[in-house]
Amino acid sequence: MRWKAATVGVVVAAAAGAAGGLGACSRSAPDVDTSRPRDEGIRFTSVETLVKEGETAYVRHCVGCHGAAGDGKGEAATFLFPKPRNFTLAHFKFSSTRSGRLPTDADLKRSIRNGLKGSAMPGFSALSERTLDGLVAYIKTFSPKWASQDTAPPIPIHEDPYRSNPDKTEAIRRGEVVYHGYVTCWSCHPAYVSTEKINEYLVACGSESRSGFRPNLDGVEVKPNVEGELVYPTDFRRDFVRSGSQIDDLYRVISAGLTGTAMPTWVDAMHVAAKEPGGPPLVQPSDLWAMAYYVQDLIAQRPPKLKEGAYALRSRPQWISLTGEPAPAPPTEKQDAEAVEFIEDE
Ligand code: HEC
Ligand code: HEC
Repeated sequence: MRWKAATVGVVVAAAAGAAGGLGACSRSAPDVDTSRPRDEGIRFTSVETLVKEGETAYVRHCVGCHGAAGDGKGEAATFLFPKPRNFTLAHFKFSSTRSGRLPTDADLKRSIRNGLKGSAMPGFSALSERTLDGLVAYIKTFSPKWASQDTAPPIPIHEDPYRSNPDKTEAIRRGEVVYHGYVTCWSCHPAYVSTEKINEYLVACGSESRSGFRPNLDGVEVKPNVEGELVYPTDFRRDFVRSGSQIDDLYRVISAGLTGTAMPTWVDAMHVAAKEPGGPPLVQPSDLWAMAYYVQDLIAQRPPKLKEGAYALRSRPQWISLTGEPAPAPPTEKQDAEAVEFIEDE
């Protein structure tokens, strides 16, 4: 259900009274320096010019959701869940740096270029590299954190022992063990195996088996984010993964975590001592890759259209009162099943 960049471009271009589509209209903007070839511009123009160009593009493409003040309160924001990012707080979720740290420019550019699937955030791949750089520079002007905090180093990329083997069965099996046995991703995301299996995996990863589990183990535990909104941990068999489902995207998001949400940084936590002195550790950094392949396999099981009864409560916008009246009663499961149809957009 995400907007296509082309559609947004056409709507916005028409509103601005410009003709000729997305690329043409960004080049013909009055305050963009067109006296140099575009490729060379970045080497010779100042940061101020880049920010100015970014502002022009921001006003054209982003204001409706992220707001003129960058606070995520654009006109459309009322109707969106999750909400557009508030750039003044600089909590960016999808980063190659550890959770809680500012993202790199490349991270911001990736989110803007590709969009965030499963949210309203469209992909702007039709914009030029230069315009994307301008947008990154401009959204960084909304928070003083960019000036006061050091650039964080990206998380380490451990060697992927499974990459060269086209058969990923071993990786997926290992991922299932680590997901349920060591890292207990199911404390927020769903468990995808029985409790007996979980206990088997816990022991295999050097932990104790358990007798109590949360009741809705095949569902998710809703967690508030840093701004107090409820966030749904992804059910990989039904929800979209926002920041991409290529294996490197999954490694990044699992390893780095998601700033401002309950999703922790896992890259530093992948060591469990060997059972025997001198033996190999039970859990290794390369197990992050195994989990990435496992999650990718779960994503591949996602039905193109959700079955009847698999109602998508989480896709419902949160109630926001414009006039102060109380929220209506929550819908029943039946109404929800009728109201929400979740269809693959590719
Ligand atoms: C139709 C609404 C909409 C438009 C238009 C839009 N965004 Fe977003 N954007 C969102 C939503 C919603 C999110 C939050 C998604 C989430 O939390 O998973 C978001 C998130 C982001 C993020 C945060 C990524 C992160 O790591 O947390 C950035 C950066 C961003 N948008 C930049 C832009 C820029 C730049 C533009 C204009 C070129 C733009 N957006 C246009 C809705 C929009
Ligand atoms: C303490 C709770 C918690 C734990 C434990 C947890 N996650 Fe998450 N995870 C979340 C939340 C919350 C989100 C969704 C954040 C959002 O959409 O704002 C998320 C999102 C994700 C995403 C989707 C990112 C995207 O781009 O949309 C992946 C993949 C993921 N988690 C993998 C894992 C794996 C693998 C583990 C175990 C190693 C794990 N998580 C453990 C809370 C958790």
